[in-house]
Order: sequence, then structure tokens, then C-alpha cells
Amino acid sequence: MRPYTILNFAMTVDGKIASYTGESSISSELDKRRVHELRASVDAVVVGSNTVLVDDPRLDVRYVEGRDPLKVVVDGSLKIPLNSRLVTLYPGKLIVGCTQKADAGKVRELESRGVRLVRCGVGEHVDLPFFFEKLYELGIRRVLVEGGGELNWHLLVNGLINEVQLTVAPFIVGGKDAITPVEGKGFPYIKDGFKLRLTEVKQIGEEVILHYSVTGR
Ligand SMILES: NC(=O)c1ccc[n+]([C@@H]2O[C@H](COP(=O)([O-])OP(=O)(O)OC[C@H]3O[C@@H](n4cnc5c(N)ncnc54)[C@H](OP(=O)(O)O)[C@@H]3O)[C@@H](O)[C@H]2O)c1
Repeated sequence: MRPYTILNFAMTVDGKIASYTGESSISSELDKRRVHELRASVDAVVVGSNTVLVDDPRLDVRYVEGRDPLKVVVDGSLKIPLNSRLVTLYPGKLIVGCTQKADAGKVRELESRGVRLVRCGVGEHVDLPFFFEKLYELGIRRVLVEGGGELNWHLLVNGLINEVQLTVAPFIVGGKDAITPVEGKGFPYIKDGFKLRLTEVKQIGEEVILHYSVTGR
């Protein structure tokens, strides 16, 4: 069994979730409140290792009153810095999925600070279906994924995303190396891609919020 999983991201009108430098201050204050409300409605928020390195996020609910979710990082080789906010502020709420190849010293260091490590597979990267089954076993039923683009792709191709919520923000930044919501290898033809059903359209100020359910491929 796996948790029900919502993918959320904010993108510019030209479909980037960060500029080519990796900077990603895209959402307005109003949209941040919406995301924090969404966080308060889930058991855990999941991000990729690169997002932790670039953004050093807190993944908390400081814009709203609500339940602070567990924080989960997909981090095959344990790149997460010991001085990252997730480790220093929320070690007891942090779950890191790594592989058997992860450095034993770093595993011990993180565990000694109260971080829960889940070893998922023997390859270079986390076995995501296995990791999500483990999250379910830990009592996590509802998950919010907050990127980045590479993790989003691998979760999608493994069939682990049920719903997509996105904010289209009134910016255009360009850049062929700027990250898009879903990176990875991609599909050769549009007909091969995921099929979505539009379930909600909302406007908050100058931003448009779209909700889709993922209906298959
Ligand atoms: N605007 C937004 O809503 C938003 C949200 C989040 C992030 N961002 C931006 O996105 C950028 C980071 O995105 P990113 O795409 O570079 O990185 P990312 O998705 O944060 O990190 C890459 C992730 O993909 C995983 N991965 C790679 N290959 C895999 C495989 N074969 N199987 C399973 N997992 C695999 C990596 O795991 P390993 O650790 O094992 O390599 C890692 O967790 C930053 O600039 C950030 O600011 C924007």
C-alpha cells in the first residue's frame, strides 16, 4: 500500500520552476499561505536532495495555524548537509530515504541527531516504490511532493502521483537550462505522456491555481 500523493509546484508562465541559477522565488505570499494550508493537510512533505541543497527549505506551516507535517528527503547518497535547516530545526520530524551505498558515517551522524533513515535499494538511487511503501508502513497516508523537477519525473514514471496542483505565476524567465516541473528523460510522443483530468481552476491575485487528477498513461 502507498500513500495518496499530491504533487505541487509553482511555475512561471514559460514553464520554469526555477531560473537557470536555480533561484525559485516564484510564489506570492498568498500562494505560500495556500501551500502551507496544503502542508497542514498532509502527513508528510517530500522533496528531492537537490532542492535541499539549493533551497535549504523548512517545509513547515509558519504562514498558517495547523499541524506541522513530517519532512521527507529522497537522498540516495546522503548529500543532505548536516547544517541544513531540516536537520538542525526538525531532526525528529525528518525521514531520509537513502540507499545501502550511503556513507555509514553520515548515516550514524544523522541518526545520532534523531533523523530516521530508511534504506531503499542497493542501486545509485532510492527505490521510490519501496520507499513509499515504507512511508505507508510508518503511518503516512497522505503525502505532498514539492519537487524538484527530477524527483517529480521519477515519482510520476513509477506511478506514485495521484494528483497535481500547480500555480502559474506572472513571470517569464526563459533559459534552456532552467528547471521545468518535470525533468527526466521524457516521453518521445505526447500520446505516451500522462493523462490528467482538470478538477479545479482558481485565481488568487495574479496567479492561477490548477488542480488535476492523474488518470493514467
Ligand atoms: N517552483 C517550485 O515549485 C519548486 C519546487 C521545488 C524545487 N524547485 C527548484 O528545483 C530545483 C531542484 O530540482 P532538481 O530537478 O534539480 O532536483 P531535485 O528533484 O530536487 O533532486 C533530484 C532528485 O531526483 C532523485 N533521482 C534522480 N535520479 C533518480 C532515479 N533514477 N530514481 C530515483 N530518484 C532519482 C535524486 O535522488 P538522489 O539523491 O538519489 O540522486 C533527488 O532526490 C531547484 O532549483 C529548486 O529551487 C522549485
